[in-house]
Amino acid sequence: MTNSVDSKRIVPNELSMKIWSEEKDYLSTGITRLTYELPISFHKGKNDILWDVDGQSYIDWSGGTLTISTGHCNENVSEAIKKQIDLLWNVHDHPIPQRIEVLKKLRKLLGNDNYVYQFYSGGSEAIEAAIRAAYSYQSFRKRKIASFREGFHGKTRGSIMAVHALYGKSVNPNYLAPVSIPFPKCYRCPYDKEKESCNLFCASETVRILESDPSIGMFIFEPILGTGGVYGPPPGFWDIVKKACRELKILLIADEITAGAYRTGTFLAVEQLNISPDLVVFGKGIGSGFPAMILAGRKDIMCYPGVFCEDNSSSTIKKAEFLGQDFRALGGASTTFGGNPLAIAAINATLKEFDRLDIKSHIREVSNILSSELLKMVESYNVLGEVRTWGLLIGVELVTDKKTKMPNQELAINLYHRCAENGLLIKMDDRGIIHITPPLTLTKENAIKSVQIFEDTLKELL
Ligand SMILES: Cc1ncc(COP(=O)(O)O)c(C=O)c1O
Repeated sequence: MTNSVDSKRIVPNELSMKIWSEEKDYLSTGITRLTYELPISFHKGKNDILWDVDGQSYIDWSGGTLTISTGHCNENVSEAIKKQIDLLWNVHDHPIPQRIEVLKKLRKLLGNDNYVYQFYSGGSEAIEAAIRAAYSYQSFRKRKIASFREGFHGKTRGSIMAVHALYGKSVNPNYLAPVSIPFPKCYRCPYDKEKESCNLFCASETVRILESDPSIGMFIFEPILGTGGVYGPPPGFWDIVKKACRELKILLIADEITAGAYRTGTFLAVEQLNISPDLVVFGKGIGSGFPAMILAGRKDIMCYPGVFCEDNSSSTIKKAEFLGQDFRALGGASTTFGGNPLAIAAINATLKEFDRLDIKSHIREVSNILSSELLKMVESYNVLGEVRTWGLLIGVELVTDKKTKMPNQELAINLYHRCAENGLLIKMDDRGIIHITPPLTLTKENAIKSVQIFEDTLKELL
């Protein structure tokens, strides 16, 4: 990309403000703070650059809430979707020619011949499906969910409880209150321990919590905490916890909606943690921004024994009819739009682009550029507490000073505004953490340029 960013503009500019001033009266207040802070109206994107309606450009460090994997409007993905548009949009679960191509690629990428797959459109929907699959598999006495206190898995949990009366035949979907476990953040240890001497107290504490309640039947976790602040577990944490989960017969459900589809440098982040989950949901970037999510999981969890996977004769289909709303029953796993031909075309083209672009090596290079510059900045500025990097999922912790580690949300908001004026769209959370999640195709040139804008803007503000 040769686009350069303009310097010092009015953001949001005239046309953006005109659109927003009308639009906001029609919208729920429940949209994100980032939009309230800066209601920029975007109208075009190409690779790692966004343009607003006033013609101003921005290097994109937000990546369409992590969905933009192969770049904004990737030509080959666009082409594949356009081609599919004139062919077929929905035939529900019926086989379509590209689906088997995608499934074969996924099986190779996940490296587990024992997984089967189900397609969904949104993250919460796919997470609900994973939990429902685990519910169907576990006994009535083992259906409590354990999760990380700071984790995020979506907003639709109520929907399945709301239809309890209708669908509660064989699987009572009235989830039991989850068991909350603090995420092992070394920078802000929930147990007030020091990394050098803690002896992985977080892992033994997690095991203690899991052991204390035999009704826990599943542990849903983000391998790298995304929305919760871009934190990863300390090395060795999962070796201890996964062993305990196996012994306690607790299913591991990996939520890779943020981390999957190469965001953290490997196709799934669990590869880096050496975890083989029983069920895994991924990933925001799998359709390059087209709505698509995938649930993969152990065949014996996602398929009723003796039904379909091994044998689809009419007698086994009959058996499945009596399973009520079990995930594995007839129609129990599928949804209206999940895996529609347009989504499958987008996934197929995205996977091809990952190969063509050698995305893994590209991410490694660009991630190194960003993180080495950011780490230098941490040495120089007292307000930068820590930089945490997993591929192109990077967290920069802003603090009032390194000693107290007080979150510096005010600086985060100011940086957000001023970076946009300087041509860089960043993303911050309410704890003063900057989340750097650009398209995976961020060019090296724009990686260097953007980190420079970030530093110059920080200097302006200090
Ligand atoms: C880790 C994780 N799980 C689940 C979700 C929910 O996905 P959706 O917003 O598509 O329902 C998100 C969304 O940001 C997420 O980051």
